[in-house]
Amino acid sequence: MDWGMKNRLSRIIKPETGRTVMLAVDHGYFLGPTNKLEDARSTIVPLLPYADALMLTRGILRTSVDPEKDIPIVLRVSGGSSIIGKDLSNEGITTCMEEAVRLNVSAVALSIFVGTDYESQTLRNLASLVDLAQPLGIPVLAVTAVGKELGKRDVRFLSLSCRIAAELGASYVKTYYCDEFEKIVESCPIPIVIAGGPKLETERDALEMAHDAVEKGAAGVDMGRNIWQSPHPVPMIKAVRAVVHQGMSPEEAHQIFAKSK
Ligand code: 5RP
Repeated sequence: MDWGMKNRLSRIIKPETGRTVMLAVDHGYFLGPTNKLEDARSTIVPLLPYADALMLTRGILRTSVDPEKDIPIVLRVSGGSSIIGKDLSNEGITTCMEEAVRLNVSAVALSIFVGTDYESQTLRNLASLVDLAQPLGIPVLAVTAVGKELGKRDVRFLSLSCRIAAELGASYVKTYYCDEFEKIVESCPIPIVIAGGPKLETERDALEMAHDAVEKGAAGVDMGRNIWQSPHPVPMIKAVRAVVHQGMSPEEAHQIFAKSK
């Protein structure tokens, strides 16, 4: 790995633990004003001291994060569809690499939609993005999207998607946690981070998911709604950090959440 690529990746996946707590706030790129992200700045700012990296679009970066903040940016560069449109998977590359460099990003992120009508298009988007980002030393995060079909989050589908992302040159991949998650890790030669998915019933449930994922080989989380849709987002991200970086059990981490709240 070239120096710039390695350096950028090390800003996200911390060398001390080999793990990361990325904060995902890119949901508006297809969901519009998502619950608790309507005023993105007020949600993001209190969480910044506890995030290893921030995943978002250029629009929310420019309007809602001060450039003086020392936070690695994972820039979402795919989109082009909305939740009310014909097909969520019909995505293209929405941001050029010149813009990514101008924004001093640590990585760029793009969704692939395996098994959909736009599978080929989104996989070729990924390959093109790798071709554009690699010469600049910018890592590419591939997101194994499932669109509206959350039921697709099983080991067979996610292993297939993660492996294809790695084969096409992604630097790391974001997927969902599922039963037999270790099988996804075993067959994927690049680091994996997990999305939180829709808000779970309790914070304890989300901590357990993060715990099980890292125990089975995930390099951390890229979590959104289970942090900032919690009534207590800062205590929640502190507890997630304890699980990911300190290897705390869900019970111990939940005590941190309860005390901090
Ligand atoms: C949307 C994304 C989100 O960043 C991702 O789903 C993580 O957020 P959450 O933990 O809320 O699922 O990539 O396509």
